[in-house]
Amino acid sequence: MPYLPLRSLPPRPISALSTAWLERLGDRLAKTSGDVPTHRAMVCRDTLAELVYPEYAANWEEAVNDEAVPLGTRLALSQLDPRNVTLEPEYYSDCDDARFQPVKPLLWLWYSFDRTPLGGQNVALGVALRRLLAPYIFKRVGANFKAFQHVEFTFGYNLEVGDDVVVHRHVLLDDRGGIRLGNKVSISDYANIYSHTHSIVEQADVTNALTILEDGVRVTYHATVLAGVHVNEQGMVGALAVATKDVRPYHVYVGIPAKSVRVKPNAPQPATILRTSEHRVERGASES
Ligand SMILES: CC(C)(COP(=O)(O)OP(=O)(O)OC[C@H]1O[C@@H](n2cnc3c(N)ncnc32)[C@H](O)[C@@H]1OP(=O)(O)O)[C@@H](O)C(=O)NCCC(=O)NCCS
Repeated sequence: MPYLPLRSLPPRPISALSTAWLERLGDRLAKTSGDVPTHRAMVCRDTLAELVYPEYAANWEEAVNDEAVPLGTRLALSQLDPRNVTLEPEYYSDCDDARFQPVKPLLWLWYSFDRTPLGGQNVALGVALRRLLAPYIFKRVGANFKAFQHVEFTFGYNLEVGDDVVVHRHVLLDDRGGIRLGNKVSISDYANIYSHTHSIVEQADVTNALTILEDGVRVTYHATVLAGVHVNEQGMVGALAVATKDVRPYHVYVGIPAKSVRVKPNAPQPATILRTSEHRVERGASES
């Protein structure tokens, strides 16, 4: 196979505008005083209003209540404020409102930006915005986090992300029971990572289980990892596979249910394969 690393592109001519816009947003988010959910709801509303309804951005409240403004426009304006919107996780009994309400405005901003003309496919600006929002939403996020458009979460607050993680377009990260992504994890387009499941008898009987993708794991296009599965270091889940059980380190699993079809040629000898980040830390400590 040819070696095709990503190219670097020169800065866009108007990159100063995006930098200024992101800096202003970052400053506003950092200056949280008082009620965090309210502050963030206002940041979300103002940001979206300026982008999609600039003529009403300065007088949002007045316009929403103004009968001279078309009804649909007033409705659309009202929905820019996350307090006027419900998100699916809010209906879940295990949703921790104390944790979800502060992240909800930022999830709404993330999802809504992706659906604007300037969002969506806009890689540089989109990645930078999501990188700015991620530390306020996730339990933890490492360096160089890169998310493309239309990624969705359940709670967001139950997601741990290591360094150099890439999440491609239309990925579902259902962190209801928790998701932990190690360093250099890559999740390809349309993949689904779940951390909750339902009883086959009683739909409302929900089991949450932490799902772990260890360092260097790749979950490829349209693949699904079910709740509680542990994909071990450098494991790979092939296109369209459904990982129902743990994936062994350096193994490539394909099919439904996913089974190992090969061990990567760069796998260390079995005795030295590091199974989890914890083992690696333990071994590092014992070797030093
Ligand atoms: C998982 C994958 C990398 C395996 O590639 P590979 O190691 O070269 O494996 P092979 O093509 O030699 O396939 C081994 C066997 O598994 C089968 N197989 C491969 N991928 C499969 C898949 N996604 N689903 C079902 N079966 C698959 C092959 O048909 C072959 O079966 P056979 O032995 O009966 O002929 C590849 O199939 C895949 O899914 N690629 C997705 C694209 C990708 O690389 N994405 C990375 C982005 S991060």
